[in-house]
Amino acid sequence: MRHAVIMAGGSGTRLWPLSRAERPKQLLDVVAGEGGTAHSLLAEAFARLRAVLPAERIWVCTAARYGEQVAAALPELRADRLILEPVARDTANAVGLAAALVEAADPGAELAVVSADHVIRPVERFAAALSSAYDALAVRPRALVTLGIRPSSPATGFGYVQRGAPTGLPGVAEAASFREKPDRATAEAYLASGDHLWNSGMFVWRARTVLDALAEHLPATAAGLRRVVAAAPGPEREAVLAEVFPTLPKISVDYAVLEPSAAEPGRVLVVDLDAEWLDVGSWPALAHTLGNDGDGNAVHGLTVLVDSRRNIVFSDDPDHLIALSGVQDSVVVHTRDVTLVCPVGQAEQVKQLLAAVERDR
Ligand code: GDD
Ligand code: MG
Repeated sequence: MRHAVIMAGGSGTRLWPLSRAERPKQLLDVVAGEGGTAHSLLAEAFARLRAVLPAERIWVCTAARYGEQVAAALPELRADRLILEPVARDTANAVGLAAALVEAADPGAELAVVSADHVIRPVERFAAALSSAYDALAVRPRALVTLGIRPSSPATGFGYVQRGAPTGLPGVAEAASFREKPDRATAEAYLASGDHLWNSGMFVWRARTVLDALAEHLPATAAGLRRVVAAAPGPEREAVLAEVFPTLPKISVDYAVLEPSAAEPGRVLVVDLDAEWLDVGSWPALAHTLGNDGDGNAVHGLTVLVDSRRNIVFSDDPDHLIALSGVQDSVVVHTRDVTLVCPVGQAEQVKQLLAAVERDR
């Protein structure tokens, strides 16, 4: 049967100081909804999958410390569909763990893997692309299918998948190559080529297929996961997981599985996801989800701006006003204990700033 798992264990450091280790971006109510309400990226990811699947076949994989917050954010999520990692070991291990548990629950399962930090509009286009990806498995049962997005810039924070030979299925091509987070010059060449798509970070495959790929390319993880599923569900399995997981190599599924598998002709397929798609990874990306004041300012919370343009201004304290006069192209974020100010052009470096803060405090 068709299942899906939401990867929701990232720590979202480029959205500091809003996103914190104890409450990361996917759990924050930052997406503007109807009538002045706001909801989380995670809740949006779950609702998107509900267009395609019943709640009992939607799983969430996250760090143990976020378990309660995830359960509270997703009233429809079944308790036995919440997968908790004792420590974060990046997505290769998270995907592997989810695949092992889904396969144990439903042998032969088809599994979609989606991110918790995306905004995708309209949801119907997402649902159609995801259905095409599942359908492709009927013809190519051992395929690793990724959803690709037409790139709009030479972004270096994404993976790139090269469209190759057609498969005969509408909107589905073989991937000629896959490259995770290339350098700037390579990304520019990919953009100019016209045949490269951004990897959306959303995949569809049989759970068994990705476990086999891990056995081939990341044997330590495959061996560790075999021990985990061999243990009886409950305290015994938790104990094995707590012992095994911290020892696994920290690596993403893109590097560990997609890059090497794409070297095998026809193994990786790519489905065009023709939709508005946003990875809400940084302040400029989050700004797209906020209200705009007509002067190019993205604003959230209590703010007053005079003679100020193209700023990103965010107050998460309902009693705290941010007032700007004659300020352009700046990020100003106020939280209870931290205020961040930086040029918009420097916003991708917030991760390094946070590292300096942690070192100096
Ligand atoms: N459970 C779990 N455990 N989830 C994790 C972990 C982990 O250790 N690490 C990250 N995640 C979750 C994040 O919360 C996010 O929803 C998703 O996995 C992807 O992780 P990111 O850290 O945001 O990856 P990325 O944005 O650098 O790169 C990926 O996504 C891009 C598109 O958004 C790659 O797949 C790229 O190729 C892709 O272009
Ligand atoms: Mg991301």
